[in-house]
Amino acid sequence: MLVACVLSLKGGVGKTTVTVGLASAAIHRGIETVLVDLDPQGNATATVDVTPSAIGVASVLADPRRSVVRKALVTSPWSEHLRVLPGSEQTEAHNDPDPGNKRLARLAEGLEKLDPLPNLVLVDCPPSLGQLTRSALVAADRAVLVTEPSLYAVTGVQRALEAVQRERTGRGRLQPLGVVVNRVRPRAAEHEFRLAELRELFGPLVLNPVLPDRSAVQQAEGAAVPIHRWPTPGAKEVAGMFDTLLDRLLRTGAKAGKRPPVAAATPA
Ligand SMILES: Nc1ncnc2c1ncn2[C@@H]1O[C@H](COP(=O)(O)OP(=O)(O)O)[C@@H](O)[C@H]1O
Ligand SMILES: [Mg+2]
Repeated sequence: MLVACVLSLKGGVGKTTVTVGLASAAIHRGIETVLVDLDPQGNATATVDVTPSAIGVASVLADPRRSVVRKALVTSPWSEHLRVLPGSEQTEAHNDPDPGNKRLARLAEGLEKLDPLPNLVLVDCPPSLGQLTRSALVAADRAVLVTEPSLYAVTGVQRALEAVQRERTGRGRLQPLGVVVNRVRPRAAEHEFRLAELRELFGPLVLNPVLPDRSAVQQAEGAAVPIHRWPTPGAKEVAGMFDTLLDRLLRTGAKAGKRPPVAAATPA
């Protein structure tokens, strides 16, 4: 089981779009996937055509027992391969700005009790660094950062990377996969400039391809249809990009599985 969380410190940059796009790519290939919607807004839940519910991730964060996890899981109408821990406003009650380690570990505990265990878990985070996002980082093997190519992109990515570094003590497996630059308009001079700046500072952490701004993304999300099934050239283009990003995620996951745990590899 590979756990990837998708985060940014800003709202509206495309976390949910990237999480759901990766889920679409995964189920298209028949990969058993669980989507965890940690954002109290519940957008990822609604996009995969599931009703937001307090008997979802909120109940697992309150009590990560196997029976609770079983009750909270819902299969998405998108595919038998996609199960969801739905989000809801009640999740906000678990967004303490200063939680203890025990509470931060609850999501990780809950995920270990998924039955059957999926191949892939994708966690959509809220736009803040409180308990919810930090529990995702504790549970995750990989962190996917999302940004738009805008003025504050560099500082935002920098702060998110620092948060990833701080939380690496969790299970010791957390690594940044990289930064997805979203909503790029290729002929916009400002975007070209910001993209070059991000590449200069973060080098290979800036993932390829960058995602273009396409109305198909909003249309598919609005209709709660996977981007891989939305019948326009724009959707096909973006779906192919999510395939490439998923490949990258799964490749690094396979490599990580062969390494000894970080704790054992690091001299005391
Ligand atoms: N590549 C894109 N092209 C067009 N619209 C996009 C793209 N990425 C995101 N959007 C739109 O931008 C809005 C915010 O995206 P969302 O994924 O919900 O951001 P976040 O989860 O970070 O708040 C949504 O309406 C979404 O459809
Ligand atoms: Mg979102």
